[in-house]
Amino acid sequence: MTEALRFDGRVAIITGAGNGLGKDYALELARRGARVVVNDLGGSGAGVGASTNAADLVAEEIRDAGGKAVANYDSVSTREGGAAIVQSALDAFGKLDICINNAGFLRNGRFEDLTDQQIDAIIDVHLKGAFYVAQPAYRTMRQNGYGRFLFTGSASAMFGHAWQANYAAAKGGLMGLSHVVAIEGSAYGITSNLLMPTAQSRLADEMDTGFMEIPAFAQSVTSADYAASADRIEVPFNTPLAVYLVSEQCASTHDIYTANSGRYAKVRICAADGWVAPMGSTPPVAEDIAAHFGRICDSDIHHEPLTVYDEFTAVAKAARRQGVI
Ligand code: NAI
Repeated sequence: MTEALRFDGRVAIITGAGNGLGKDYALELARRGARVVVNDLGGSGAGVGASTNAADLVAEEIRDAGGKAVANYDSVSTREGGAAIVQSALDAFGKLDICINNAGFLRNGRFEDLTDQQIDAIIDVHLKGAFYVAQPAYRTMRQNGYGRFLFTGSASAMFGHAWQANYAAAKGGLMGLSHVVAIEGSAYGITSNLLMPTAQSRLADEMDTGFMEIPAFAQSVTSADYAASADRIEVPFNTPLAVYLVSEQCASTHDIYTANSGRYAKVRICAADGWVAPMGSTPPVAEDIAAHFGRICDSDIHHEPLTVYDEFTAVAKAARRQGVI
């Protein structure tokens, strides 16, 4: 029997915890003993407006159930907001152990039509917002020699989704951010992972269905496979993985996970063994690439570099395998 995952003595910030996934993470972490900062700006599903209601209601629900929580209404989208969110954990509970960057909204549109406003708002909340909260969080975790970061990615970035170029670009950026936090944090007991959730939340209600004009999308959205999972595309199916990833028991770091309809899986970034050009300082020409393109794309043998430098090891392995060195 697996030992119960408890968070007694731990302090967690969950951004965007007034609704949807963040709310469920906050309730569950508090139920398991964590003291929680429930951050939420309280705007609409499209990120318009602000209110104290969303964060207040969740913090109250936690306290009514006997847990410990404070509400915070700052926007993650400014450096001052990020600092204030972390400060509210320090003021209320004296430290910070867990930071779940989850706040966000959508502003979908065709790639060629996206305005500066649509691009900036999405980069600000998802990507810059994660920096603004994670940087002060990291500093305090580093001092304490312990920390758990969970960044919220998206299948839209990793696999692609029409009409979400702004969102996919921001979420893709979070993957790089999480990797570097994991590498730098490894010296200080800090882990960092990225979770790609899937849920029929308020945010999903913001989805414009215009992208269905793309035949491949219309087909997948109406497919039997999609329909078979539909009743499990729900918020609570995501929470167990999020909770495990920020627990003391979870040693995983620098990793990406997907939660989708009750299926939990690690997502890996690999490079094919590829084709290694003959030794020497003369670079190959484009025709050489064309001639070896099958091998370049053949991922039967592949490598999973964990840092930029690991890729040099993969290159040397491929060169040896191919008899180039
Ligand atoms: P949601 O709309 O139910 O919750 C998001 C919360 O973030 C809202 O309460 C909102 O007020 C808050 N928020 C928005 N801007 C904020 C700001 N500047 N500062 C503080 N709080 C702010 O949406 P949901 O689905 O729970 O999304 C949570 C996260 O999961 C988001 O980052 C979203 O992009 C991501 N995600 C969701 C997926 C889904 O299928 N629902 C799929 C992939 C990723």
